[in-house]
Amino acid sequence: MKKRLFTPGPTMVPESILLEMAAPIIHHRSPEYTELFKRVNEGLRYLFQTENDVLTFTSSGTGGMEAAVVNLLSAGDKVLVVRGGKFGERWGEICEAYGVRVEPLDVEWGHAVDPDTIARKLKTVPGIKAVFVTQSETSTGVLNDIKTIGEIVNDHPALLVVDAITGIGAHKLLTDQWRLDVVVAGSQKGLMLPPGLAFVSVSERAWEAVKSSNLPRYYWNFSKAKTALSKGQNPYTPAVSLLVGLRRSLEMIKEEGLEEIWERHHRHALATREAVRALGLKIFAKEPSNILTIVDLSSTIDGKKLRGILSRKYGIMVAGGQGRLEGKVIRISHMGYVDDFDILTAVSALEMALTDLGWSFESGAGVAAAQRILAEHRSR
Ligand SMILES: Cc1ncc(COP(=O)(O)O)c(C=O)c1O
Repeated sequence: MKKRLFTPGPTMVPESILLEMAAPIIHHRSPEYTELFKRVNEGLRYLFQTENDVLTFTSSGTGGMEAAVVNLLSAGDKVLVVRGGKFGERWGEICEAYGVRVEPLDVEWGHAVDPDTIARKLKTVPGIKAVFVTQSETSTGVLNDIKTIGEIVNDHPALLVVDAITGIGAHKLLTDQWRLDVVVAGSQKGLMLPPGLAFVSVSERAWEAVKSSNLPRYYWNFSKAKTALSKGQNPYTPAVSLLVGLRRSLEMIKEEGLEEIWERHHRHALATREAVRALGLKIFAKEPSNILTIVDLSSTIDGKKLRGILSRKYGIMVAGGQGRLEGKVIRISHMGYVDDFDILTAVSALEMALTDLGWSFESGAGVAAAQRILAEHRSR
């Protein structure tokens, strides 16, 4: 059976990237690698829409998050953490692990943070050194308004640190224009690569903070990564094959164009949401991200059973609910290497699996709804 990944990481990897990564390995202390790494860094700056350094670490996205914390802060510093889901909570957990004091801003799951509440916290809580926020909260399917948050935080000395691990390469994100100090991304998401690389952009303001930060760090040292980067190198052995794949992925992103990519994700998100509604089910997120659709199973359908059928019977991998949403939702990703017909396939499999579970709806209604949206948006 053909297996298809509709999980919000890892995502499907294009055949041309897989082929490039299968080439014989090159040595990382060679002119060939330096040339590759320079090319990749140009591509990363385009993807992040920045003139800042974008540092590459061999790790999953969480490594990039930890790197941001340990390079910007000192023990006892106070930070504001937006916690509207599991990944916002992770920012807080990392900070606490290093003795950074967390001022939480808790947001009801399924809702985006109201940027005014950030403004109020910054006004009323003295001494906040940094604001940590998640662009696309993958556990709740919510999109936060990073542009507006950027405007607010820039009126304040605090740094703005954004987890765009499932945002970048799918949702609009303009690092320099929106004045985002640190942005974290990962390879196995919109970048269409296997897991294993984390990327962190660092603004001038953030580099100033690095100078005075005293948290312990070795592998995650931004300054060492920057010095090596200026020579087209990494401090330690990089994941060479993934970087070869990254060169191809960034070429593909440039060829398609960011605007087109954002539009494609928008179209796929709209089509999936409409399909879900046509099947009589709800969307969990009130301000939904275009990265994934979280289907609220209203406690009437067992999420684990549904996922099991989708995977075993139809070869469709979707993710389950995290934390308090376990068993109550399924998460269907449409991030990265996804085309219109992938969406129709996922919706069709969802219909078949729901029928297997005895859910009643008009057969074909989901596929028809998705097709209508896809056709409307294609003809524009
Ligand atoms: C928004 C967000 N932040 C952070 C992470 C953690 O990334 P990783 O699992 O690559 O460490 C994920 C992973 O799904 C994510 O979706």
